[in-house]
Amino acid sequence: MRFLISAIILAVSSASFSSAKWSVGGKVVSYSASVPVKRNSFIIEFHDHADTHTHGLKVRSMPDIAVNHHYDGLFKGMAVTAGDSVAASDLAGIDGVRNVYPNRVHKLNTRSSKHNITSSYLHQKTGLAKVVKELGLDGKGVKIGIVDSGVDYEHPDLGGCWKTKGCPWQYGEDFIGDKYDLANMSPVVEPNPTPMDCDGHGTHVSGILAATGSQVQGVAPGATYGMYRVLSCADSSGQTHTEDAIIIKGMEAAYKDGHDIISMSIGGGGWAANPTSVVASKMVANGVVVVAAAGNFGSDGLFTAQSPSVGKGVISVGSVDNWNYTGAPIVIRTKTELHTLRKADATTQAGMFVFKKPVSVAAPKDITGNINCCNPIQSDLDGKLALIPRGNCTFTEKAIAAQNAGAVGVILYNEKPGIRTPLIERSVSIPVTMLNAEDGRLIAEAISVGPVTAMVSGTEYETYNNPNGGKMSDFSSYGPTPELGLVPLLSAPGGDIWSTYPRKKGSYLSLSGTSMSTPYVAGAVALIKQARPGLSVDQIRGILITSSIPISDSKTSLQTNPYRSGAGLVNIYNAIQSRFHISQPILSINDTKREVVSSAIPSVSDAEFAFRTLTISNMDKQKGMRIALDHLPAVAVTMFNRNHTLSNAVYNQLALPTWPKGREMVPANTIPQVVYNKRYLYIAPGESAVLKTRIVRPIGLNESERWFYGGFLSFMAVWDDEGEQSTYTVPYAGYNGDLNKISALPPPYEGLPALVYENGKAIDDASLFKVSSRNEMFVAYKLDMPSRIVLISLMNLEGKMVGYLSDGYYTESIRTLPSMYSFLTVSVNGSVYPSINASELVKVPAGKYYVHLAALRLLGNPDRESDYDIWDSDVFTIE
Ligand SMILES: *[C@@H]1O[C@H](CO)[C@@H](O)[C@H](O)[C@H]1NC(C)=O
Ligand SMILES: *[C@@H]1O[C@H](CO)[C@@H](O)[C@H](O)[C@H]1NC(C)=O
Ligand SMILES: *[C@@H]1O[C@H](CO)[C@@H](O)[C@H](O)[C@H]1NC(C)=O
Ligand SMILES: *[C@@H]1O[C@H](CO)[C@@H](O)[C@H](O)[C@H]1NC(C)=O
Ligand SMILES: *[C@@H]1O[C@H](CO)[C@@H](O)[C@H](O)[C@H]1NC(C)=O
Ligand SMILES: *[C@@H]1O[C@H](CO)[C@@H](O)[C@H](O)[C@H]1NC(C)=O
Ligand SMILES: *[C@@H]1O[C@H](CO)[C@@H](O)[C@H](O)[C@H]1NC(C)=O
Repeated sequence: MRFLISAIILAVSSASFSSAKWSVGGKVVSYSASVPVKRNSFIIEFHDHADTHTHGLKVRSMPDIAVNHHYDGLFKGMAVTAGDSVAASDLAGIDGVRNVYPNRVHKLNTRSSKHNITSSYLHQKTGLAKVVKELGLDGKGVKIGIVDSGVDYEHPDLGGCWKTKGCPWQYGEDFIGDKYDLANMSPVVEPNPTPMDCDGHGTHVSGILAATGSQVQGVAPGATYGMYRVLSCADSSGQTHTEDAIIIKGMEAAYKDGHDIISMSIGGGGWAANPTSVVASKMVANGVVVVAAAGNFGSDGLFTAQSPSVGKGVISVGSVDNWNYTGAPIVIRTKTELHTLRKADATTQAGMFVFKKPVSVAAPKDITGNINCCNPIQSDLDGKLALIPRGNCTFTEKAIAAQNAGAVGVILYNEKPGIRTPLIERSVSIPVTMLNAEDGRLIAEAISVGPVTAMVSGTEYETYNNPNGGKMSDFSSYGPTPELGLVPLLSAPGGDIWSTYPRKKGSYLSLSGTSMSTPYVAGAVALIKQARPGLSVDQIRGILITSSIPISDSKTSLQTNPYRSGAGLVNIYNAIQSRFHISQPILSINDTKREVVSSAIPSVSDAEFAFRTLTISNMDKQKGMRIALDHLPAVAVTMFNRNHTLSNAVYNQLALPTWPKGREMVPANTIPQVVYNKRYLYIAPGESAVLKTRIVRPIGLNESERWFYGGFLSFMAVWDDEGEQSTYTVPYAGYNGDLNKISALPPPYEGLPALVYENGKAIDDASLFKVSSRNEMFVAYKLDMPSRIVLISLMNLEGKMVGYLSDGYYTESIRTLPSMYSFLTVSVNGSVYPSINASELVKVPAGKYYVHLAALRLLGNPDRESDYDIWDSDVFTIE
């Protein structure tokens, strides 16, 4: 029996995805159909020891190859466009080639709204205000490279200059130009003489770092800057795009200019093996601090942190919401009352939500009679604002329905307390705003009894307290990495950040994203470097982590899980003052062992724990350090139900389930415990001491619920003759079970994988289906977990593989994110690649076949069949 799949096919794999093949030379990397790549475009990576000149000549001498970029810095290789006759495996066959990566394309992903944020409160919370006031630091003498969409360097708050004497902008270049449009087969790359920003993202990021103005004060305005422009203007799709090949070009240039710090508010993919992660890790190994955005996919659940932030040694940054929130209120007039309400605006092509004269508000229903408006709206909304509740489909779909019915604007409202900035695609051409649930319902009720109008002056502002201030932003991506690495490393303010914007677009704007928290941390690093120039990359990373402040969980007395927040909120003052060093500032727990812990923990007798030996150093050469040890457990988090389906929270973009659920007492063995071999330490000036610790996993939690646990080792330190106590923390986190046992594929009763028609409907009886080149069917599947290798092959009835389906081989896949795709598909049309390294599809003989899909589970061994999840389809006929 087959299950009907009601979801629409969002991603029919297209010809633009190369099939991966191995060859004797290098490895061909292949991404799943959910990762957009540029057609016929590849990044070739040579081995470190390879002679790039000789090998480059070999690439050039191949017929039908155009070389687009050379990389001869840290990353040795080139980006090429290959004709249809050239397969990736041919490139991999060239001497000296280590990897051939398809060239991924990326689109910018931020949320915006015009709020005039008072940032002073924020800078107090991160210790910046104190650093400026007491230490007078501004980043002078430190060089920071920003890889982004360019900068409006003419902006008065950003120097108003380019590479002149005394100008903050002394370095930088454009690598993409204004014409890059993915609608073209080969997008035009025509760099301008300077990296002037036409998108806005890079100017906003630059302001967080470098601005000196009445409205925006950057974190490190005294530093010297470089802007490496790798993102173009919004193209014909209304989106701003780039590709790996160009990002790497920008990273290389930034590295060559000798920056101390590189700030990257850019992401995609999620594996340390992705090329941007590889390049970032190499820079770190060479002494550059690389700070990168964790990503904006937190609403999709765990394992959503992006490359390059997941690269080894890279500082991956999550986002907390700003405490204050200033914006233009919406004034609603009902039959009897006048209300001034807080709203959050999306950025659409129409700009901000401003209606200087009262406009009538309607509460439409779609053709199915539903107020959610996920289907077309028939009623005439000409000249009106449409009031629509959140739920059932995306904000963009609702806005398009209203736009098509003639509405001049959309007022969305939340279905739960609080307010968030709706993420709307730029294809929407009317302004969109959002209210909280209570206010939305109030207007809906008023509409049912009489006329209602709305007005927004756009020039009057009010400041509000943000109820989620200081807590993690709902969009901030979760770790761990697919290798169970702890990301993000720490968090900084990124939700509702007021900063500079191109003069043509209004000069100032509030944007939200880990794109905003990343430059904040890059700026923090600059201040640390200015204050303490001798520190190594590892030491800087260490003091940033240990001096961050864990974020308390709002529902319990525990802390937020480190896979969500990392070490917590950055504290620049504490980091600069830190005299505390620990050998391992962050602990990824992947090696617990079962043992009886007798009297060590009275409440837990039978336990499974990880053992760690840590060396703590007192960096003060004059004073001894006294430490009291403590432990701050964090809530555990999961994204699964007990029956192993993904939690509804993931489909509905809500907060993930956590344990404990509230403040009531729970069994001690459901909370992680930490046991130290000592409770106090005294470390003489400049000396070190060894601490042994057992981290006990919460064995009382049901393994079938798949919890990710964590917490913080806490060190309260006081130096001789000093009264004040400083607290340092070391985050730890792990999976409460065997990660390798979590299947990559959803449980069988979800009905996926499945054979489906082109419209996504399951084929009830595949044995009746006759596949031909004109009558294709599809394998629909999704990945609930990342997978290093996914194989989709065609088998004959003897159980022998006849070949891989086109697009039937992927490496380093990310999870199928519910906010983007219901499932992925690959076509079954009678053609296969006979082997992984074959470069041409061949037609298989007529006969009976079935599809075999294998996905490697995390931490699995690619050579061990039992580490794969397997699905075999019903038998069908190929003509
Ligand atoms: C494919 O490559 C492997 C080595 O990676 C080699 O052993 C095998 O012979 C190749 N197969 C074909 C059909 O070229
Ligand atoms: C933002 O606030 C500052 C200080 O209150 C004010 O001077 C400025 O005009 C405001 N900006 C906008 C765009 O309203
Ligand atoms: C900003 O937020 C803080 C903390 O919630 C609050 O105490 C303060 O009053 C707010 N400032 C304004 C101007 O609302
Ligand atoms: C556990 O983590 C350590 C350190 O990150 C790593 O070297 C080791 O390979 C990991 N073990 C497993 C089983 O993944
Ligand atoms: C799995 O569990 C969830 C939550 O308890 C439930 O909503 C869902 O219907 C279950 N699915 C199946 C197939 O049992
Ligand atoms: C753990 O989950 C399994 C599977 O649903 C269930 O059978 C078992 O009773 C649960 N155990 C506890 C302690 O809740
Ligand atoms: C089957 O589909 C693939 C991928 O879409 C395509 O390249 C190939 O030409 C198709 N084969 C036939 C026989 O239509």
